[in-house]
Amino acid sequence: MPEFFINGQPVRAERDQSVLEAALANGFYIPYFCWHPELSVAGNCRICCVQVEGRSWVEIACNMPVTEGLRVLTDSEPVKAYRKSILQLLTLNHPVDCGICDKAGECKLQDYHYAYNGAPSVSHDAKVHSTKFHALSERIVLDNERCILCSRCVRFTREISKTNALGITQRGDTSLVRAAEDGSFDADPYSDNVVDLCPVGALLSRSFLYKSRVWYLQPTPSVCPGCARGCTVDLWHRKSEWKLNALDPGKNVRIERVTPRENAEVNGPWICNKGRDLAQIFERPRALDAMVKGKPIDLVSAIAVARALIEAAKRPVAIVSSWGSNEELAAFKALLPHRFEAFVKPDWLPQPGERLDDDLLIRADKNPNMAAARALFPQADDGIHSFASDADLFVVWGEGFDFARIPAGANIVFLNAYLQPENGHADVFIPLTIQTERSGHYTNFEGVVSAFSACFPKPATAIDAEALFAAMAAAETETVRA
Ligand code: SF4
Ligand code: SF4
Ligand code: FES
Repeated sequence: MPEFFINGQPVRAERDQSVLEAALANGFYIPYFCWHPELSVAGNCRICCVQVEGRSWVEIACNMPVTEGLRVLTDSEPVKAYRKSILQLLTLNHPVDCGICDKAGECKLQDYHYAYNGAPSVSHDAKVHSTKFHALSERIVLDNERCILCSRCVRFTREISKTNALGITQRGDTSLVRAAEDGSFDADPYSDNVVDLCPVGALLSRSFLYKSRVWYLQPTPSVCPGCARGCTVDLWHRKSEWKLNALDPGKNVRIERVTPRENAEVNGPWICNKGRDLAQIFERPRALDAMVKGKPIDLVSAIAVARALIEAAKRPVAIVSSWGSNEELAAFKALLPHRFEAFVKPDWLPQPGERLDDDLLIRADKNPNMAAARALFPQADDGIHSFASDADLFVVWGEGFDFARIPAGANIVFLNAYLQPENGHADVFIPLTIQTERSGHYTNFEGVVSAFSACFPKPATAIDAEALFAAMAAAETETVRA
């Protein structure tokens, strides 16, 4: 653990740390564009310069190893002058179109300009124009005028997603980030991470393009249910103080974008594109009416009918959701006494064209809580086995179960959140809330427990599964006593 000095203060560094890493770890801020803790060192933006005491020149901190007794200055006059000149160079041809740029509010160039430059452009020449809205893929567009050629996006596809899908063509002020022409960037299931990585607004997500200014949004911590990795994410939605009353009130309860919530135990700083598209999962048409034999009924009455069926059943079967939270699964376990035979089903199977699994994050099991479900209910439903012909009640929780497998004559209580043809075929249908309307925890395939929080109010006619199971358990207790 070498000791060195930053601005005269002693600092302890880990072995093999650079001056930039050691400084950040010890609370000394040094600006950086091209450096990223998960990528190789490129050393091309030069904004991270520091001065070694006794030398008249500056050097980059991201590629400077810490050595015993080294003395660096992060704020000397030569450092300040050099940083300022770098920012002036970067903005020579930068369009400074922050007013329409999605990155505004989160842009390092904007922040560093105000922190370390603040002066108008030194150039009187026209800016060099370049390609705007260049389609790098179906999902991502590139504004070459904003690109500062830090190469983070290129290194990401080379070192993390390993598709080698991006490169830089040409030299000097005609340099351009371009996608390989073999479609590998379109096929890269991690491609959207480059939008977060880009320190400026050069890489833009089509799904978020011009949707909202980021300062109108707030993140709610959540967990991606797209596979058993359970990546921690932030669901971004409109702040209540910026609620829309007239234009499109529906936007107040919509997911505007999803970003990774950095988590060293689970997903590091990355997520896959399926996690970015969670709105496509959560914003499907909802089932909001309780039903008995396909006819709408109020929720309380539907629950009463379900309770009566449970009380009367002699050989009931429970089909357990692998999308239920740890809390809901525990409540379901409490509901089901020994009379029930329980099977855990995969609510979701891999979709056509979806990557099955890989060495980075994506898991073949496309359900978030199979581990916790199987810990409580050891029997798995393999999707084909036959149930006992005298099973007289099926309590089916969640999507993905084929009703054709239910023996003729058995009653069905179906608990689900989305509109599906099966809803109307159940004897009792009870609409549930979804993950964005409640809080809870999932346990991923490695046993790591992650929390998710509610970001939207729950519909008045839907019920949390945990509350529902508690109500049904009360009915069971009464039956046992009788
Ligand atoms: S597009 Fe963004 S991440 Fe890629 S090189 Fe340019 S500035 Fe860097
Ligand atoms: S790897 Fe799995 S959990 Fe992570 S974002 Fe992708 S689908 Fe979601
Ligand atoms: S962060 Fe060091 S050169 Fe870019």
